[in-house]
Amino acid sequence: MPAILDKIINAFHPHSSKKPVPVFDSTKVTVIYVLGGPGAGKGTQCARLVEDFGFCHLSAGDLLRAEQQREGSEYGTLIQTCIKEGTIVPMHVTVKLLENAMKAAIDERREGEGWKDGKSRFLIDGFPRKMDQAIKFDEEVCPSSLVLFFTTTEEVMLERLLERGKTSGREDDNVESIKKRFATYKHDTMPVLEHYKAQSKVAEIDSSASVEVVHKVASDVVKKLFAGESTSAPAS
Ligand code: C5P
Ligand code: MG
Repeated sequence: MPAILDKIINAFHPHSSKKPVPVFDSTKVTVIYVLGGPGAGKGTQCARLVEDFGFCHLSAGDLLRAEQQREGSEYGTLIQTCIKEGTIVPMHVTVKLLENAMKAAIDERREGEGWKDGKSRFLIDGFPRKMDQAIKFDEEVCPSSLVLFFTTTEEVMLERLLERGKTSGREDDNVESIKKRFATYKHDTMPVLEHYKAQSKVAEIDSSASVEVVHKVASDVVKKLFAGESTSAPAS
């Protein structure tokens, strides 16, 4: 197209030609985000959903901790400080780690449910924690299908985290860091939930109950998502 035409089009649609194409095709790659305050039970429930549906489970926090430990990482100190202070690591670091981990999982050419004909399915746990992460990932990596949002009270979360802290070895499972993580959650993550609620993409699940009870509810939500995708037959 002649440059002048390009310029005219851009003048009317300033962002149209710059819209990035996501790395992954969301008709093949299913992304479910898993959110909830620290200690809400995200990791526990993800492990159960992996058993049910063959997801690849990627925890943003785990990937950051691994990157922090990786010899030669230029982000080690930055990640360590953010984790201890309960603040959000600059999004380009986390988004890139997730993208790389997704590529690696797809390259494994897994077998089984959800991994045939170039398809794949991911549970992305503890992400997106902030609006910039959400926009960047949906636009440039892969549009998400659903947000599983586990909720419970701060009392329950605090109790669970302190219990976990006895054995987790995590630098942020102490009262001081936990308080900061709660504040970051309210300030940075709640707007993300509002953003997806406005798109009717959030399944809110009370995670105060036992692992079993919460798992049953979460599993039914995911079942419905896949049923809607894989068949045009009306639900029975
Ligand atoms: O999810 P998890 O509790 O393991 O996350 C630990 C820490 O990792 C967070 O408190 C935050 O400092 C960082 N993190 C982040 N962005 C994410 C997930 C985790 O900055 N999406
Ligand atoms: Mg976790």
